[in-house]
Amino acid sequence: MMKFLLENWKKFLGENIDIVYCNTEDSEDCELEYHEQAWALAKESSINILSDKDLKAVAVMDSKVVGAVFDAINNNKYSWDTIVHPDYQRRGVAKKLIDFAMQEKEDLSDAYGGLEYDLDVTNPHMRAYLKQLGFIGDGRSMTHIEDEERKNETSEN
Ligand SMILES: CC(C)(COP(=O)(O)OP(=O)(O)OC[C@H]1O[C@@H](n2cnc3c(N)ncnc32)[C@H](O)[C@@H]1OP(=O)(O)O)[C@@H](O)C(=O)NCCC(=O)NCCS
Repeated sequence: MMKFLLENWKKFLGENIDIVYCNTEDSEDCELEYHEQAWALAKESSINILSDKDLKAVAVMDSKVVGAVFDAINNNKYSWDTIVHPDYQRRGVAKKLIDFAMQEKEDLSDAYGGLEYDLDVTNPHMRAYLKQLGFIGDGRSMTHIEDEERKNETSEN
């Protein structure tokens, strides 16, 4: 019974989380307030968002930013960092933000030519999850199997 209630509670919360696109500070959908909350969340977290990264999207629940993804492109390499507020973890927020970032990488690749993933993933739980999505790498650095295959095909031709 308890498990049933918990699962449905999680599902209910999941449906109330919106992912809001935040490309620039004057992005119409992402209010300035979301930027402030997202950077405050980053500051409070254990990870250091490098200055090359910009806020890409926020997870919002009842006007409160509960998660954020920051991304960067350097030398055709696409990277991101995700952060979820401790009170909202294990509810699939990071999954939604990662789906968003992966779609963004595809869209940017179509628009500007192929990008490759180059992630710095310190969190072991995140590493395990990303491996399920096809990311590879033994240290902190992770690339994606499809990018590696594409590179190998190009060098063979
Ligand atoms: C890592 C972090 C972003 C995960 O956010 P989250 O919203 O709790 O993650 P999700 O609920 O979407 O979980 C996605 C998957 O990651 C894995 N995972 C995440 N946190 C986990 C934990 N504490 N224990 C075990 N697995 C975990 C699971 O595989 C999970 O999928 P599942 O729920 O189907 O098992 C969050 O814990 C966080 O902000 N940590 C501090 C900052 C940080 O470490 N960022 C990542 C830097 S690499």
